[in-house]
Amino acid sequence: MKIGILGGTGNMGGGLALRLSLKHEITVGSRSVDKAEEASGELEAKAQGFYQSAMRGSITGALNEDVVEGREIIIETLPASAAVTTLATIRDRLTPDQVVVSCVVPMKRQGRLYTWSPVVAGGRDQSRSAAELIQEAVAPVNVVSAFQTVPAQYLNDIGGMLDLDVLVAGDDLGAVEKVMGLVRDIPGLRPLKVGPLANSKWVEALTPLLLNAAILNGLHDPSIRIVPWSPDTEET
Ligand SMILES: NC(=O)c1ccc[n+]([C@@H]2O[C@H](COP(=O)([O-])OP(=O)(O)OC[C@H]3O[C@@H](n4cnc5c(N)ncnc54)[C@H](OP(=O)(O)O)[C@@H]3O)[C@@H](O)[C@H]2O)c1
Repeated sequence: MKIGILGGTGNMGGGLALRLSLKHEITVGSRSVDKAEEASGELEAKAQGFYQSAMRGSITGALNEDVVEGREIIIETLPASAAVTTLATIRDRLTPDQVVVSCVVPMKRQGRLYTWSPVVAGGRDQSRSAAELIQEAVAPVNVVSAFQTVPAQYLNDIGGMLDLDVLVAGDDLGAVEKVMGLVRDIPGLRPLKVGPLANSKWVEALTPLLLNAAILNGLHDPSIRIVPWSPDTEET
């Protein structure tokens, strides 16, 4: 697939580009074409060095507005403060068959700890998830929420084995299935459906909880895995 990453020069966008370029043609977006080209060159060299002949995809760079056209999936890895406004400026370039993936986590720091903090859009604190506000900005294009609980550091450690769940929320079943497939394309990530896009609020809120768990309990970049109950059935 051809995939565009808005804000792809950052930690999260770069990490996803590295992992997804094994199979897909990735274009990382930036506000600056020079920065996009420099970042994409470094990312592609790192990916080629690791995947060698197994690499079937590529990583190139472009302005954010130019990573949209002709891409099946557009992944949004911009800071929450810029996520809705940036997409609103390029919505005319989107087509209804595309899917936008929101990785955005709106949160703020209070002292040493973090809380989920809704994006302020249209001058109002809407108390809705970033993904829902993005959906409002790009409708009728479908938005799916995913990857919020995957630390960028894990993705950027290209040789590091992953063993994590990715919670996927969305209203359109076809778009959700497409993103489930994208998650499966990164070895070690298991996609789990968690219902409609409105539930993105709870997925986004997991990130400040994980950061606080790290800070308060001395953990190193924790993520999540949902486990079923597996009682020990052996007789004692
Ligand atoms: N880091 C993680 O572990 C992680 C994990 C899960 C989800 N996320 C989410 O993913 C998103 C990106 O996180 P990140 O850590 O990758 O952030 P980041 O590195 O700080 O920023 C990503 C990119 O956004 C662009 N950007 C910054 N400010 C902007 C603005 N005002 N307007 C337009 N573009 C701007 C920059 O690209 P240019 O300067 O090249 O334009 C930057 O490289 C956030 O919403 C975050 O909550 C992060």
